Parts: sequence; structure tokens; C-alpha cells
Amino acid sequence: MKREKKGQISDFRYATGTARIGWPAVGEPLRLDDVMRIVEFLVPAAPGRPAAYRRNLAKVRRAIGGLAEAGSLATKLTLGNRVKELEQAVEKYLDVRHALFLTNATAGFEIAYKMAGLAPGDEVIVPAITFIATIVYPLSIGAKVVLADLDPQTVNIDPADVARKITPRTRMIVPVHIGGWPVDMAPIMRLARQHGLIVLEDAAHGFGGSYRGRRLGTIGHFGAYSFHEVKNINALGEGGILVTNTKFGQQFGKSRFVGLDLSKKIPNWLYDVVAIDGMRGPFVAGNHSATEIQAVALKSQLHRVDEIIAVRRAAARELNHRFRHVPGLRGTPMDHGTTRGTHHLYQLQIDPQVVGADIQDLKDKLTERGVTQIPHFGPLYKFQILRQLGYDTAAIESSCPVCEDLFNHRFTHLPIYGLSAEQIRYLGDAVIESVSELRRGTA
Ligand SMILES: Cc1ncc(COP(=O)(O)O)c(C=O)c1O
Repeated sequence: MKREKKGQISDFRYATGTARIGWPAVGEPLRLDDVMRIVEFLVPAAPGRPAAYRRNLAKVRRAIGGLAEAGSLATKLTLGNRVKELEQAVEKYLDVRHALFLTNATAGFEIAYKMAGLAPGDEVIVPAITFIATIVYPLSIGAKVVLADLDPQTVNIDPADVARKITPRTRMIVPVHIGGWPVDMAPIMRLARQHGLIVLEDAAHGFGGSYRGRRLGTIGHFGAYSFHEVKNINALGEGGILVTNTKFGQQFGKSRFVGLDLSKKIPNWLYDVVAIDGMRGPFVAGNHSATEIQAVALKSQLHRVDEIIAVRRAAARELNHRFRHVPGLRGTPMDHGTTRGTHHLYQLQIDPQVVGADIQDLKDKLTERGVTQIPHFGPLYKFQILRQLGYDTAAIESSCPVCEDLFNHRFTHLPIYGLSAEQIRYLGDAVIESVSELRRGTA
């Protein structure tokens, strides 16, 4: 084998350089049929137009066949230049030092928790309402998850309750920008500094939003975004990005792929395998690699993300405008100054005292009118998993009275993207009519 020049690092799996017999990057390359199956999956036939669909599909097949003859089908399918280009574009967009493209946000959390050196018995403070993905890693290693109560206006973590729940065993705070509305990060970061804690932002819904001029996800020590198919932009169904401004970002590459270190070789072998240096010592990396094609898909939407958020914002503004004079209704929190949400979910609250009924009644009325509600995130203490792991969920529930009240009586999420002006109008009408029926006591 040809010796590499000093300082030149190649990926031994693919870069066989000038070798006359190289190692093809893909065992069995994709063929035209395979590519067409992908096209048909991405653009399936609409009901009722099979003939036109078949005709156009045949044209696409001829066109892609022609392209393949003139060019070549992709070979490098994972961890190549497209992933690198995406990461660089994200670093620029977010103004952050290190970005790492992964299978999903949950993988990003896992790496951040490991980098923070989270250990069994440590405590992690998270909001009482979030998706379970926020806490699966701490639960899986026997760290203790402490649920903080919520801010009644935003349904985000309440920094005052975080302060009450810090103990000598607390290691991390994990604020979640729920629905894409920014957590009040200043008091969270103050508490972290005072107590020497690590902050991981669950910015699964927060890509493109900002808090006081700083991008969500880049304010804490670590932040992770989700590009699952329901998010504002997606990476062909699944995807995540972990970011940091800390020096630990220098090891992101190795922490994504089992600690393989291509810059170091052992005698008579092509690479070394290393443990990753975390804040409290070395840890073992898993495999969280996402693919080149996912990177292409996500990067192509990057330049549209602000536009997508703007459409969502306009819809949110219109609904808020319609609800502002309806007694007992509160619309979603709106941007002020340099604090701007992503409007991933539209948050609707009602005041049961004023309306004489609560959110469960409103949800039923909306369902009758064909308005889909987004199955919003339940309080984590209600799920069996915490009881199974020995948590005293009744005690947790009584330590989160605002969460309990919000969840049972006050709030839901509504869809706001991809709706026509008429659908937005219908949605507004449906909410307003339902609330007035509830006020009149009409069943
Ligand atoms: C609040 C929150 N955190 C984390 C996640 C996990 O994201 P992913 O599916 O990319 O792992 C989600 C997913 O929807 C979420 O809603």
C-alpha cells in the first residue's frame, strides 16, 4: 500500500488513492431500479391519477437513466463531504463553533450527557413536560431525573423551581424550548454558573429561534436539534445536530463513530480507537452516524428555514389577533425584540374560570369540528416508566402544581403550518365558536 504523506489523513475505508485495485465504497451500488423505488417513495401516486403518474414516472426513469449514463451513481453514502458541508453551513447559520450531524436529537443528548460525565446517582433537572427522549439516557444509566415545574405563560421550565430543586448531587440542567418558544435562559445560566452545573439545551423544536439575539441551542454548554419528519425542516425522516462552543467539540467526530481515530495509527494497523475525553474523564462512544443523502436533504432546506418560520409566525400572529378579544383565551407566546420562537407548535390556553369549562371540553369540541390537535407532550411523571424505575410519581406530581393544572385544564397545541388561508380562518372560527358554546353551556 502506498504510504500517505505526513499530515495527510485519509479514511482508509474509501480513499484507496492511486491503487490499481481499490475498495469500492459501496458493496453493491444502487441501480436505476433502486433509484426509481426511492423516487416513487418520495413522490407516490396521488389517488385518481394513475395514468398521468405512470407516464411522468416513465419520463423520469428515462431522464435519470440518461443522467446515470453520462455521470455515475453516488458511492460515498455515509460520513463524507456532504455531511461536512452541512455541518459547516449549520455552524455558520447558528454562529457556533462545532456542529455534529447525527441520527437524531436523542443521540446528540447521549453524547452531551457523556461529555458532561453524567454518572449513576447524579441528578439532572428537566421540565415536567417534554418528550421522553430528553431523559432516556439519564434513566438508562441510573442517574436521577428531577422534574421542575413550568412557567404558566410559556409551558417551559420555570427557573425559580429549578433553583428550589438544585441539590449537592445536581450535575445538569436540561431546559427544553417546547414548541420552539425560548426558555428564559438567563436565570438558568446564572444558576449553572453559581452551582457549577452543565446546561444541555433540548432544542429539538428550536432550530432557527433565538433568545436575546443568540440562537437557541447555542447558549448552554451543549444543544441538540431534531430533524425528525414532523419538525420545521427534516433530514428525510430522522436526523439530529449537536452543537457546542466548548473545547469538547473538537472531539465530536470521534464521539459520533465508536471512537475511531484515523489521525492515529497503531503499529501495523490503519487507525487507533480511543476513549473520548469528557469533562470528568474518558468515555466510550457509540455509533450515531447519519448518511450523506440525509445531509443533502437537510442542507437543501437550510436556506428556507427562515422563510418556513416566517410562514408559521404569520399564521400564529393571525390566530392571536383573532383570539385577543375572546375572554378566557390566550394565544401562543409571540416574538419580542431579539427573542424569537420557531413557531413549531401553536400553543393555545384557556382560563377555565372565565370560560366555565376546561381544555378537555374545548379539545372535544375542536375534534367534533374536524380540527386536529397535536398530541401534546404529557407530564413525564404520568408515564409508567418512572414508576417502574422506582420514582415516587405522586410526590413528583405534587411538586409540579402548575404543570398539573396546565396539562389537565389549560393548554393544547394546534397545527399552523401548511394550512391555507381558508383553513387558518376555519381553525380560528372553530376555536372561537367552541369557546362561546362552552361559555353558554351548550353541550
Ligand atoms: C422535546 C423533544 N425533545 C427531543 C426529541 C427527540 O428528537 P429525535 O426524535 O430527533 O431524537 C423530540 C422529538 O420529537 C422532542 O419533541
